[in-house]
Amino acid sequence: MFDVQSIREDFPILEKGVIYLDSAASSLTPEQVVLKEMEFYREYRANVERGVHRFSRMASEEYEKAHEEIARFIGAPGVENLALLSNTTEGINLVANSLDWSKEDKIVNTVIEHHSNFITWLRVRQRHGTKLEVVRSTPEGFFDLADFEKAIDDSTKLVAVTHVSNVLGCIVPIKEICEIAHEHGAKMLVDGAQGVPHIHTDVMDSKVDFLAFSGHKMLGPTGSGGLYIAEAELASTEPLCIGGGTIADVSLDDYVLAVPPMKFEAGTPNIAQVIGLGEACRYLNRVGMDNVEKWDLKLANRLIEGLTEIEGVEVYGPKDPRQRVGLATFNIGDMNPHDVALTLDTEYNIAVRSGHHCALPLIKELFNLKEGNARASTYIYNTLEEIDALVSAVEEIARD
Ligand SMILES: Cc1ncc(COP(=O)(O)O)c(C=O)c1O
Repeated sequence: MFDVQSIREDFPILEKGVIYLDSAASSLTPEQVVLKEMEFYREYRANVERGVHRFSRMASEEYEKAHEEIARFIGAPGVENLALLSNTTEGINLVANSLDWSKEDKIVNTVIEHHSNFITWLRVRQRHGTKLEVVRSTPEGFFDLADFEKAIDDSTKLVAVTHVSNVLGCIVPIKEICEIAHEHGAKMLVDGAQGVPHIHTDVMDSKVDFLAFSGHKMLGPTGSGGLYIAEAELASTEPLCIGGGTIADVSLDDYVLAVPPMKFEAGTPNIAQVIGLGEACRYLNRVGMDNVEKWDLKLANRLIEGLTEIEGVEVYGPKDPRQRVGLATFNIGDMNPHDVALTLDTEYNIAVRSGHHCALPLIKELFNLKEGNARASTYIYNTLEEIDALVSAVEEIARD
């Protein structure tokens, strides 16, 4: 049974009285995750996979258990398929730097991407002359699969698409796009930064080749995230950095990389953060991702319905909450969205984000908004009453 009030007890930061609606930027962290991180510092603070002393053994064991938990959480077949990195951005850059690009290759991307999954490909184009085709959506964030059929051809090496837009909240049909990519021998990379926290993820079902995600958006610590790498890509995928921890053997003339995932995790890793992310996955599993999805839909429903009914307020993204996650961007007349966010914070204790949300192509191409918009984004600890409080605050600001 999903009980938001008992979930809220796990987040003491909520006692400060702030209505936190900025989880798409970074979620809050439950006490269980904070304590698990502290356990590392207090009980077995040591490096991992290096020493034989007891602290090192304990830290390594917890670090490995976290790998297993996180891999299971996204449906990866094994820990070797999961490189634990700092965030989504690092995962996407790892893929961009690993693939062997030429002028003949094509990358297919979309207009709704976060900069992390956009400028990375612009840079590949600048460096290697690779072709880049950007598939456009409707202003709500809907795609016509026929546009992907047209854009993806036999020269396409990679299709890089987000699962959920951090501006429109829309859910992109990644499984269908992945099928088209694979028909042409292209690989499929999914930006899971907003998808993994909200939607049950199963990489074996979607059959994607790469999935990058951020732990800090799914109750985990900052500095935690991962990249799923499909079995067929494991041998050819190159680490972003190499060094201590990534090798099987080194001589004066040569080196042999370790087996995955170790070959991807160079240097001393984010040990406490990885252990914390493992705990965050355990927490989400206890809540149940089906409950997370159901609550998300309720919050999205209330949010979209409430905001769209206010005169003078424009809400972006799909009108049907079933086609989105609990995230809505909006503008109040021609008010600067930063002023809206500041007023919500200082006068109503409500935290939302404002600006272009690191998605300038979307903001410019689809809406031509100079200052962007304001964004309210929810997670499992938000209540319907909090959404109502936001809606009446926006109503008041719009009236004044
Ligand atoms: C859709 C999307 N992709 C990528 C990112 C980048 O995530 P990170 O900053 O954790 O690397 C974000 C962060 O807001 C995002 O929303």
